[in-house]
Amino acid sequence: LLGELILLDRVDSTNAQILARLEKGRGHGAVMFAEQQTAGRGRRGRSWASPFGGGINFSIGWQFNGGVQLLEGLSLAVGVALTRALAEFGVPDIRLKWPNDVWCRGRKLAGVLLELSGDLTDRCAVVVGVGLNVGLPEASSENIDQPWIDLNRVHPGIGRNDLAASLLNQLLPLLETYPVEGFAAYREAWQQLDQFSGRSVRIVSARQEWTGVDRGVDDTGALILEADGGVKRFYGGEVSLREA
Ligand code: BTN
Repeated sequence: LLGELILLDRVDSTNAQILARLEKGRGHGAVMFAEQQTAGRGRRGRSWASPFGGGINFSIGWQFNGGVQLLEGLSLAVGVALTRALAEFGVPDIRLKWPNDVWCRGRKLAGVLLELSGDLTDRCAVVVGVGLNVGLPEASSENIDQPWIDLNRVHPGIGRNDLAASLLNQLLPLLETYPVEGFAAYREAWQQLDQFSGRSVRIVSARQEWTGVDRGVDDTGALILEADGGVKRFYGGEVSLREA
């Protein structure tokens, strides 16, 4: 399943690089790791701190035969796959925060950024970008706007190469089978890992905020928020979840 494997010391953003390849019709199965990113991208237009040796940062390019509807819930399924890779090494206390942050002990351990390319109605392509904190210096905190945790603090001694290999061994087969399986194959697992299940949360967009109880996700990966006797669904792109 693996195409080109690119290992770099430094790059602007592995997501940007893989996206550029997909836009030229290349890059299916391409994987790029970078020790350092000078313009690492996070969700909702934020940056992703990626100093040298501070994490496992990589992107995978994948081309699908079909439209963007095939990708519904994919970012949540990627979150589940990351937790499975971490479980292989016995990392404790791993949870997910909707839509796809990996949390540990109430803090963020890893983030996922999906970016789309191509003809979204017919042959869509996606970049799956993953950033996992491993060896991130405390000094990086200045640039990070939420509580974070480092894998070395939770479970030191995991080989970086071993972990990188396990992550790919989870993610590449997921991408291969996702058009057939869809989110239905991951929904139950996602809900089992939901850090905020049954708890009061806030959903925050650039201009608005909603408060309610986290009632899990539907079969498209939308978050179900119960408030004022009704439910409201939220889709990943523009909103973020916070503890109420
Ligand atoms: C988030 O939680 O906001 C998503 C963070 C995603 C970061 C990764 S690091 C590798 C890849 N390249 C990027 O520029 N971003 C993603």
